[in-house]
Amino acid sequence: MSGRLYGIGVGPGDPELMTLKAVRILSEVPVVACLAPEDGESTARAIAAQFIPAGCAEIVIRVPMRPGPEPASLYDDAAEKIAAYLSDGRDVAVLCGGDPFLYGSFAYLHDRLAPRFSCTIVPGVTSLTACAAASGGALARRDAALAVVPATLPDAELKRRLADADSAAILKVGRHLPRLKALLAELGLTEASTYVAHATRADEHVAALADLGDTAAPYFSMILVSKAR
Ligand SMILES: C[S@@+](CC[C@H](N)C(=O)[O-])C[C@H]1O[C@@H](n2cnc3c(N)ncnc32)[C@H](O)[C@@H]1O
Repeated sequence: MSGRLYGIGVGPGDPELMTLKAVRILSEVPVVACLAPEDGESTARAIAAQFIPAGCAEIVIRVPMRPGPEPASLYDDAAEKIAAYLSDGRDVAVLCGGDPFLYGSFAYLHDRLAPRFSCTIVPGVTSLTACAAASGGALARRDAALAVVPATLPDAELKRRLADADSAAILKVGRHLPRLKALLAELGLTEASTYVAHATRADEHVAALADLGDTAAPYFSMILVSKAR
C-alpha cells in the first residue's frame, strides 16, 4: 500500500502556534520534506524542528529566490523524489509556512501528487491572522471586504484592488517596499497602513508605514491597510 502525503501548516513562526494535529503527525511520519532557499535553512523546518523525530528521513527541495515563477521541472523533480517514498509505502509530511494552501508552493507538489496518492492537508495559522494580531487591529469587521494582494502585482492592478477594498493585506513586500509606500501615499492610505515583519518570531517588527524609510523589507513582511482606522 502506498504512503500518504501530508501538507502540514506549521504557522507563521512561533512553534507554539503549530496545531496539535501538525505536531502529532510529525511525531508519526518516517519522512519529512521542506522547501528551502538555494543556500539557506528552510523557514518551515526551523519552526517545526523540535517536533521532527530523530532518524526521520528528510527531503530538502531547493528553490531559487528569483522574481517570477519557478521552472515546472523543479516541482516535477521534487514530486518524483517524494513519490518514490510514497510508492514504497512511507508517509511523507511536507512542512509549509503558515497554511499550505495560502500562497504556498506546496500547491505545486499537491497538483502533481494528489492524483496518484492519498493526501491530507493540515491547515495552519496564517501570516494574515498573525500580522493582524501583532498589529493590534482587526483585519476586517462586519460587512467589510478584505483584499489579499501580493506586492508583485503591477502598480495599476494593485491600485485598483486597494482602492476597491475596505481593508487589505499586501504580502511579499520585500524589495517592493519603496514602490508600495509611494503607491499607498498616492491613494491617501499611508496613515491607514501598518507594516509587520517576522510576526510571532523573536525579531517581530511592527511599525506605522509612515515611520519607515525607503529601504527594502525582509521577505517575511506584510502591509495591512485598514480604511476604518
Ligand atoms: C509565499 S507567502 C506564504 C504565506 C503562508 N503560506 C501563510 O499561510 O501565511 C509568503 C508571504 O507571507 C507573508 N508572511 C509569512 N510569514 C510571515 C510572518 N511571520 N510575518 C509577516 N509576514 C509573513 C509575507 O508577506 C511573505 O512574503
